[in-house]
Amino acid sequence: MLFLQLVLLVVLLPDGDSEDDFRDPISFRIILTTSFHNHSWTRNQGSAWLDEIQTHAWDSKTGVFIFLQPWSKGNFSKKELTEVEKLFYTYSIRSPSTYHNHVSQWQLEYPFQVQLVLGCDSHFGKASVGFMRIAYQGSDLMSFQNMSWWPSPKGGSRAQQVCRVFNQYHVFNEIVHKLLSDSCPRFLLGLLDAGKTYLQRQVRPEAWLSTGLNPSPGHLLLVCHVSGFYPKPVWMMWMRGEQEQQGTQRGDVLPHADGTWYLQMSLVVKAREAAGLLCRVRHSCLGGQDIILYWEQPHSMGLVFLVVIVPLVLLAGLALWLWKHWKTHWRHQCTGFPLE
Ligand SMILES: *[C@@H]1O[C@H](CO)[C@@H](O)[C@H](O)[C@H]1NC(C)=O
Ligand SMILES: *[C@@H]1O[C@H](CO)[C@@H](O)[C@H](O)[C@H]1NC(C)=O
Ligand SMILES: *[C@@H]1O[C@H](CO)[C@@H](O)[C@H](O)[C@H]1NC(C)=O
Repeated sequence: MLFLQLVLLVVLLPDGDSEDDFRDPISFRIILTTSFHNHSWTRNQGSAWLDEIQTHAWDSKTGVFIFLQPWSKGNFSKKELTEVEKLFYTYSIRSPSTYHNHVSQWQLEYPFQVQLVLGCDSHFGKASVGFMRIAYQGSDLMSFQNMSWWPSPKGGSRAQQVCRVFNQYHVFNEIVHKLLSDSCPRFLLGLLDAGKTYLQRQVRPEAWLSTGLNPSPGHLLLVCHVSGFYPKPVWMMWMRGEQEQQGTQRGDVLPHADGTWYLQMSLVVKAREAAGLLCRVRHSCLGGQDIILYWEQPHSMGLVFLVVIVPLVLLAGLALWLWKHWKTHWRHQCTGFPLE
């Protein structure tokens, strides 16, 4: 049923709005987490992210970046990438000793974690000067600005002491400054350009209904699922006609391994009031034509089959033929539609 509705939606709709659906601002982040188990044992984990898309992994043993997307190198040359790689590796090897050497002075207690994040943002095609922050045990310790480290107010006297030590590393701080003010913004813009096709893709959601475990006698738990969509923003609601159902519970938007998203909305209703409810899904890929799924009483399926499915199959066949015929005229075609 859903499949057929989708066929009709795809075929009978005019072209969707074709504005750039680029999320803005978009940020690039490098994260390095160092776990200090004891005085002689530390472990580094690094990764890089473009908003919620992981672009790079990192081999902490060899210090080599692993490019997770075909466009993860942006427009940097091999030489420039190797320089950043070396810098990152050197920092990951050397910085732990600074913490180890100040354990009692800074009142650090094994085991602990130090997290570093550095990155920059792009807004309307312009990339900002980057930032770098360090956290101890998950709470802000200090940030880098204007060539020096500044303690976070929450970091107390520990933060002030750590800053004092880090501010003595003049050469390192100059490199960081260049990295943040020049390399990061340049890399981000190059990355956005190289990954444009992937980042601006539109993937059509699939939607279906199910029931959950009976919440209480005489009630139904209706669940509306929408899956495989991109970009992330999506709107969905349980409704009766035009009226939104107040009890609708929204789940978290969860990632699929292929970079698309999944969301479910549930609603508890009295079983005899379930008829006539519908789930409505709105997404940029649908070009203003929402997916609408009606909750059907299971016993009415036979009738539905005769009255709805049979003509629908015929229509769909016709529609499919027309779609194939017209497909070449379409701009910004949504992908991921299960026709193949
Ligand atoms: C440090 O921790 C590691 C991993 O837990 C352990 O194998 C090692 O023996 C510890 N070393 C010391 C000096 O405690
Ligand atoms: C950055 O540092 C320079 C020179 O030390 C100073 O003139 C300037 O006001 C500082 N800017 C900010 C935002 O702190
Ligand atoms: C990469 O692209 C950015 C933005 O278009 C540009 O500023 C930069 O010069 C390009 N090349 C390198 C090597 O960064």
